[in-house]
Amino acid sequence: MTYKTEYSKYLQIFNEQLDLAIKCLSSDVPEELKDAMIYSVDGGGKRVRPVLCLATTEILGADIEKAKKFAVALEMIHGYSLVHDDLPAMDNDDYRRGKLSTHKKFGEAIGILAGDALLNFAFEYCLLDANFDKLDVQALKILAENSGAKGMIAGQIYDMRNDNRASYSEEELYMVYNKTINLLTAPLTIASALSGGKHFDKLKELGYHLGALFQIVDDIMDVECTLEDIGKSPNKDLEQGKLTSIRVFGLDGAKDRAKFHYQSGKEILAHIENSEFLSEFLDAMYLRRK
Ligand code: IPE
Ligand code: IPE
Ligand code: MG
Ligand code: MG
Ligand code: MG
Repeated sequence: MTYKTEYSKYLQIFNEQLDLAIKCLSSDVPEELKDAMIYSVDGGGKRVRPVLCLATTEILGADIEKAKKFAVALEMIHGYSLVHDDLPAMDNDDYRRGKLSTHKKFGEAIGILAGDALLNFAFEYCLLDANFDKLDVQALKILAENSGAKGMIAGQIYDMRNDNRASYSEEELYMVYNKTINLLTAPLTIASALSGGKHFDKLKELGYHLGALFQIVDDIMDVECTLEDIGKSPNKDLEQGKLTSIRVFGLDGAKDRAKFHYQSGKEILAHIENSEFLSEFLDAMYLRRK
């Protein structure tokens, strides 16, 4: 199977599961909230986190059925993080995935609440599984921690500090990068938890390199790409004085840094059997332009 075909296979599994999840949003959910939640997770995204979770679960020989709910939950949490990231109080972005950002479409209050609701629903949906077992508890703990106050949200806090100093250290940059590293590590370590802990440390390290690579490429696209390419407003980071890899290393330095994380990821994958898909996934993340 080619990489593209395999990616489509996981995407299809995810899409079917997302449809089922949306059907679980009962009639007790206010209509405008439901619309905003669906708008925020519906189409346009690359779905890298769920695909990564499903693929890694299969590579490790664990039950892909168990991973489906986590794939949906990861995308809901990612979706919520973007809705809040785009709010006027944060990055103030009018566009996301080539359409209006959620608060622009539904208003700020609904945007905030749709984000909140997606976060809660991610956990509710996982816990709907009647066969939830010890491995699932482990996986859910990872999901909560990685998206929480010492994970993604910690990174967003450092991202917002913006104290306009002349220079920043590499260490400070990687504190900001927690915003992305955590939600790209979780799919890998959740898959490991579902397999009873196979390659846990290696996958955690892979998540670090993949997350850093992903965010460096995002920083680069912010300066090199157009709204049509990336579906969100470019040149935002410099305008808003964000701490990015380009600010710390310069544009060429950031590209070198991306290469370093790419190669480090590749080295880790050399020690994980049957990981060809992950290896090609890493290639795609290194070369991506959207
Ligand atoms: C955007 O994530 C936010 C970052 C972590 C840089 P994605 O690039 O995965 O966004 P979508 O889901 O494909 O739109
Ligand atoms: C956002 O980083 C990461 C999270 C939402 C946690 P950015 O602010 O760089 O993402 P974009 O560029 O708006 O997608
Ligand atoms: Mg941001
Ligand atoms: Mg942003
Ligand atoms: Mg960005």
